[in-house]
Amino acid sequence: LDFSHCLLRGALLSFDQDPGDADTPATDSYRYHEDGVLWLANGRIRELGDYQALAPRLPEDIPRIDHRGKLIMPGFIDSHVHYVQLEMIASYGRQLIDWLNDYTFPEECRFAQREHADRVAEAFLDELLRVGTTTAQVFCSSHPYSVDAFFQAARRRELRMLAGKVLMDRNAPEELRDDTLGGLEDSERLIADWHGKDRLGYSLTPRFAPTSTRAQLDAAGAVLRNDRSLWLQTHLAENTGEVEWVAELFPESRDYLGVYEQSNLVGPRSTFAHGIHLDQNMRKRLAERGANVAFCPSSNLFLGSGLFDRQASREAKLAISYASDVGGGTDLSGFATLKAAYQVGQLRDQSLTAWQGFYGLTLGNARALSLDDRIGRLAPGMEADFLVLDLAATPLLEQRLARCQSLGETLFALMMLGDDRAIYETWANGRRQHHRDR
Ligand code: GUN
Ligand code: ZN
Repeated sequence: LDFSHCLLRGALLSFDQDPGDADTPATDSYRYHEDGVLWLANGRIRELGDYQALAPRLPEDIPRIDHRGKLIMPGFIDSHVHYVQLEMIASYGRQLIDWLNDYTFPEECRFAQREHADRVAEAFLDELLRVGTTTAQVFCSSHPYSVDAFFQAARRRELRMLAGKVLMDRNAPEELRDDTLGGLEDSERLIADWHGKDRLGYSLTPRFAPTSTRAQLDAAGAVLRNDRSLWLQTHLAENTGEVEWVAELFPESRDYLGVYEQSNLVGPRSTFAHGIHLDQNMRKRLAERGANVAFCPSSNLFLGSGLFDRQASREAKLAISYASDVGGGTDLSGFATLKAAYQVGQLRDQSLTAWQGFYGLTLGNARALSLDDRIGRLAPGMEADFLVLDLAATPLLEQRLARCQSLGETLFALMMLGDDRAIYETWANGRRQHHRDR
């Protein structure tokens, strides 16, 4: 069947604005059509709304898919994840620096082999689509081919993806270290080959301050400032041992963030993963530059890194994105990320509403990554990346949702109980790319 033009009937939910942190979402922050219709044409959303209201204008001669009883939402976005760590997820008993040395670096060495990179890139994207993630910002390894493998696989699936080659010229095994400037030359070759091609974008990827020399960070900053359409991803203040190490390695910097500021790495397309051990001054500096911090709750709990202070970031007007950080994180699913974020919030007396959670996974993450002109909402002209959720995916989910009296309650129960079984279909670029039962 040709679904390049088609109609899907079902409940529709999409955010237009940040709903805020109150139990009741801000007025006009979302649209919900209980009996809605989504009209797709050529990979984009052509029109949507209440089925009855739109019915007279809907074409008769294109396929109609009946998803009544199911909920259609924008595809989930993961602002920080390592595809090369997929197969070492759930590695026991270490915190950050030991975890990197004992498990992560040896795993990333395997990406010297092209067949390995090709195989894991395919497996990772299959898994993302299975859990309803249609866009991610992705760390590859330091091997340039690991990026080629990833982008090839993403392009074949017509996915909107950001990725980059890890820059790392010190404090890592020899097999993984690049040359200070050679790493940037490789990045520039990858930018020329992939950035802006189809739905792909390049994110410069210095791993974190300890594994790059000042010269390499400066060189990355120069490339970034030379082309404002590029993204940047790195790690910041995840673990207290890491923070102390950075202070020793960069005694001239005022604090951890200062290391990145001095190399011009902080801007509106910069994502800093974790940002747990920050003070309010650093949060404000990040906010002023329009950067975002990626909250990676399942990783922060798994690696024992700490409890992210969401409220402090909100007060500083610092954009928060939501991320799995697999293989530090324990689950690729956006539901799992929200569940862990809620649990972290409870321990800090900062409860995460389901409104804020689902906004965060969709439009919030799209905004943080400057992709909100294309994805993150169900709206005319937007790229057709969306999910069909099965609200009766398990007997318990069905039973629990039947007791809900409001959409807010329903979304909260879904946020707590939902998992990959609720992802009935995943569509990207107007094509159905995953069907749970096939
Ligand atoms: N800091 C530097 N590298 C990494 C990594 O691969 N994962 C996490 N969670 N933190 C890091
Ligand atoms: Zn990470």
